[in-house]
Amino acid sequence: MTLVPPSPPRPPAPPESTEGLYTQPPTEWSWQVPAQGTARFSWEYGDGRERLLALYQKGKDKQWDAVRRIDWELDVDPYDALGTPPESLPIHGTRYWDAMSERDRGLLRQHYASWQFSQFLHGEQGAMVCAARIVESVPDLDAKFYSATQTMDEARHAEIYGRFLHEKIGLLYPVNGSLQQLLGDTLRDSRWDMPVLGMQVLIEGLALAAFGMIRDTTTKPLPRQILAYVMQDEARHVAFGRMALRDHYRQLTDAERREREEFVIEGCYLMRDRLQGVEVLENFGIPSAEAAELSERSEFLQLFRKLLFSRIVPCVKDIGLWGEKVQRAYTDLGVLDAAGTDLEALMRDDENIADRIEQEQAAEFAARKAEVVAAIDSAAEA
Ligand SMILES: [Fe+2]
Ligand SMILES: [Fe+2]
Repeated sequence: MTLVPPSPPRPPAPPESTEGLYTQPPTEWSWQVPAQGTARFSWEYGDGRERLLALYQKGKDKQWDAVRRIDWELDVDPYDALGTPPESLPIHGTRYWDAMSERDRGLLRQHYASWQFSQFLHGEQGAMVCAARIVESVPDLDAKFYSATQTMDEARHAEIYGRFLHEKIGLLYPVNGSLQQLLGDTLRDSRWDMPVLGMQVLIEGLALAAFGMIRDTTTKPLPRQILAYVMQDEARHVAFGRMALRDHYRQLTDAERREREEFVIEGCYLMRDRLQGVEVLENFGIPSAEAAELSERSEFLQLFRKLLFSRIVPCVKDIGLWGEKVQRAYTDLGVLDAAGTDLEALMRDDENIADRIEQEQAAEFAARKAEVVAAIDSAAEA
């Protein structure tokens, strides 16, 4: 018997240059953040913490290929990529909305989807750079091993969102100023725990909640697959962040803990501002101040914001950065209630939902295949 090796998947076509797809070209094509800090080696090769090594093993076991696992053949209407209900758009019900033609409303939906997924994409690139930084700077080898798997996960996520935007939406937004500022603050800090705190707790915590909301509300199968599979990986990232920081923060002095708390507070306000999407409305001719006010007033956005902090707040509490100032900031942001969210349960759900979607996808694929076989059979009989 000859063993025929499976044919390798087709490599993705080289993407069209992004330059022509940006709404406005970025002010610079390469962003350089001067790095500080220390690259650390460990000569202790046999003393890994069981829980971290288990996470590393899981990271290896659960690697996957976006080219094969996602059904890129699925069509996406760029003017209704997510099946977004009109009420969720911040200008719905305003004079601007009333004056818009159906075509312009479609364009507005395209811009919002592009803006949202572009921030996911830029964030994922940031996550990849931060995970690589953690490999370099974290003192223990078990954490370096784990972070190396996360670096690969984040590369896959950036690949996926980049492909979705290039092939399906056809439009990209530059990185949002607040997101870029938090990324910069996170990377410029020389302490090894700051990329974990800034990136994995704040930026990814917020992104994860946004992914979850779109995953659970979109009526379109391709974005649903993408978000569910990305979220399956993110559950490991959150688990690492909590584990690494909880251990480390237990031994901080009060002054050191206060510094981290200040960073969290500032970061959360930046994340709040990153959510508004004022850039989109400006592109539709709405003056900046009015765009900010409309977004701020939008009931949907207020609800969205509450949900978006649902993953950050319990995590911040869990890692022990729960001083009075932090709690006051969350009260001011209207998100203190989120402290009671059961993160473990959310992450278990994320894993189960991805598994379920994969099974549905396999069943649908089998049904499609059976249809083709039946068509060929009946043509042969005729
Ligand atoms: Fe990611
Ligand atoms: Fe991540």
